Amino acid sequence: MTKTVVAVDGPAGSGKSSVSKAAATRLGFDYLDTGAAYRALSWYILDAGIDSADAAAVVSSLGGFDYTIGTDPIGYHVRVGQTDVTDSIREPRVTAVVSNIARVPEVRAHVTGIFRDIIRDSMAPGIVVEGRDITTVVAPDATARILLTATEEARMSRRSAELASESASEVASALQKRDRADSRVVDFMTAAPGVTTVDSTTLNFDETVDAVLDVIRTSQ
Ligand code: C5P
Repeated sequence: MTKTVVAVDGPAGSGKSSVSKAAATRLGFDYLDTGAAYRALSWYILDAGIDSADAAAVVSSLGGFDYTIGTDPIGYHVRVGQTDVTDSIREPRVTAVVSNIARVPEVRAHVTGIFRDIIRDSMAPGIVVEGRDITTVVAPDATARILLTATEEARMSRRSAELASESASEVASALQKRDRADSRVVDFMTAAPGVTTVDSTTLNFDETVDAVLDVIRTSQ
């Protein structure tokens, strides 16, 4: 049986991580959060005291970057060396530098190779892979290719609800800044040819998961 590969791209706050994880759980598939790998690398760069704006220093640190990213959607975890960084990669100090690190072409080539190995080695009947360039660069031949979008307003209000400690305006400006920086590197706001757009603006969580599952079923 051939493995089903589901590629999901989308901007920050589109719900792609939680929706992709839920879809993978429903299907008994593996799940790969590629943003978590960029975040784990950023955590490692900060921990090593390397200047994230120094692309040459970031590139030379790649050889020592040893991380494990779980693909079980239920027991999901991320480790750098022996340290569990599943929660700390979500800290604002990591979010603040991740785009800087992810825009370095050598970084992208390095982690893209790792993502392709993980997809190839997955033992599950399928894998849901989510990020910014999965439908276009990492797995352009995926069985199902989805762009998960929502209006900026909807994305901002979801993010502010998640991060209750920050004010809505801080969340909005951080989100816009990150989307702007990220979209200079890869276009995840428009669907590439053959990619199905799922707009979650007026859908609740379960409806969005169902819409994604429908695309997967019709693509198989
Ligand atoms: O998805 P998440 O918001 O956790 O991603 C964190 C960051 O990782 C993004 O802001 C982007 O800079 C980078 N990223 C990327 N390509 C991917 C996934 C994430 O550049 N495929």
